[in-house]
This record gives sequence, structure tokens and C-alpha cells, in this order.
Amino acid sequence: MTQVPAPPTDQAAYWNQAGGQAWVDLQNLMDRLNRPIEEVLVARAFPGAGKRVIDIGCGAGATTLGMAKRLGPEGLCLGVDISGPLIEIAKAQAIAGAQFVEADAQTYDFGAPGFDAAMSRFGVMFFSDFDAAFANIRAGLKPGAELVFACWRKPADNPMAVIASRAAAPFLPPTPPTDPLAPGRFAFADPDRVHGILQRSGWAQINIDRLDTPTPVALPDLVTLSLRMGPVAAALRDQDEAVRGKVREAVETALAAEAVNGVVPMVAGCWLVTARA
Ligand SMILES: C[S@@+](CC[C@H](N)C(=O)[O-])C[C@H]1O[C@@H](n2cnc3c(N)ncnc32)[C@H](O)[C@@H]1O
Repeated sequence: MTQVPAPPTDQAAYWNQAGGQAWVDLQNLMDRLNRPIEEVLVARAFPGAGKRVIDIGCGAGATTLGMAKRLGPEGLCLGVDISGPLIEIAKAQAIAGAQFVEADAQTYDFGAPGFDAAMSRFGVMFFSDFDAAFANIRAGLKPGAELVFACWRKPADNPMAVIASRAAAPFLPPTPPTDPLAPGRFAFADPDRVHGILQRSGWAQINIDRLDTPTPVALPDLVTLSLRMGPVAAALRDQDEAVRGKVREAVETALAAEAVNGVVPMVAGCWLVTARA
């Protein structure tokens, strides 16, 4: 039996291959699901009409476009992402005041400190050197400018994220232990860790608040997401059709038990993090 793949260590490769492709394929669904978080983020990070904002790990650009609309044509929201396929989709949707660049936000030169805010929806937990990445982002902001991002709390606060893995486990080889601090979805689950990273990289007035956002999702959509993204998707990649079928059935049954009238009343358990350059 083969081992279940560990979380990706080469994030650039992951987001340009399997991970990025899954987001490309499911982009409309993901944007719909995460729209309530976009609304909170854009409202909180908005620095005023005509200002300049960085969107870190912007993916296909929904939050960049949302911010650009609020900033107006005199403003700029610059979406930065390491994934070629996702930036391609973002560029195809660009509007006045929204620009996109395919780059690593850890090292990208944002120019003289000229931005009025930086924001991210789930795009800052994948850096290989968190301290250096946040210092680089800070260098692109004017003194006193605000950083606002949403990241996931621990899996126990996001039970829907683990139901599929649990249901699939009996049909798959054992998962090797993973490092909870490694870059990945839940790397910022510990608020003390996030606070330390921001403090060491020069940020001030750090606040980390709970953000529990209802993100109800139709049962078939959640089944699709659970099988196409995250640990179950990675584990299924090397499996034959018989195993895939059993896993699909187990995941469908487990998630159906959570649904009310065909909708799973999911709540995204996140941190809303703010700090000043
Ligand atoms: C979970 S997705 C979120 C995408 C988008 N913010 C959204 O909410 O739809 C994480 C994103 O971070 C990007 N990313 C990961 N590492 C990055 C890096 N070093 N620099 C820029 N983007 C990065 C990935 O390519 C991916 O698009």
C-alpha cells in the first residue's frame, strides 16, 4: 500500500499544479462560498476612495475586484499570487483599478512604501519564511497603514473540514503525522504564533479576533469540495476507481448526516487579524 501524501512542501509547485488546478476548476463555487468573508475583509480593510491596497495570495481575484470597486477608478488594488493558472483567471476579469501580478509575496518588490493597506483572504499561511514574508509586505506599506487578513482557526473549530477525512480514513492507507506549524491551511491556528510572527516582522497594534462566519453550502457542492481539495483529494490521487468509489460513498453519507434540507449549515471558524505598519 502506498502512503497518503503529506501536505505539500513546495508551495509554488502545489499552487501551480494540483492545488491551483482544483481552485481553477471550483473557482465559482469557492467564490460563492467565501463571499461572506470577502465582504467582512473588504469592509474592514478599505482605506478610503482612491487609495492603494495589496491583496496577498489573491487567487482568482474575487477580493481584489471587490476592493477595487470600493476604491473607485482613481484607486488601485494589486492582487499578488504565486499561481500562474489562478492569476490568469484573475487577469481575464480585471476592471479599472484592479491589477494582478504573478509573484511570490514573500520576496516581491512592492516598490517604495506606497500602499495604504494590505489584505488577504486565506492567502498568508503558505509562506516558507513567515517572518521574512510579513517584513516584506510591511516594507510596501506607508507607515501606519493597516494589514487585515482572515485565516483559519484550528480544525476542531472547522468540523466540516475534518468530517470528510474521518469518513475516508478506513479506506485509505494511514496518514503520516503532519507538522501543525508547517505552511498550510491551519498553520495560523495558534493566535500566539501569529502574534509572534507579526511582532518579529515589525508590525504594531496587533489584534486577533474570532470571526465565525456562516457559509451554508449545498450538500453536493460540499461533497465535491471535500473530494477535490485538501487531504482527501491528495490521498485519492494514487488510488484506483474501487477505492475512490468507496471513499465517495463514505464522504457523501457522512456529510449528508450534517445537512438540513439539502444544505450543510457550515460556519467558517477564522481569525480576523489586524496590525499596523
Ligand atoms: C487558499 S487560496 C486563497 C485564494 C484567494 N485569496 C481566495 O480567497 O479565493 C491561497 C492562495 O495563496 C497563494 N499563495 C501561496 N503562497 C503564496 C506566495 N508565497 N505568494 C503569493 N501567493 C501565494 C496560492 O497560490 C493561493 O491562490
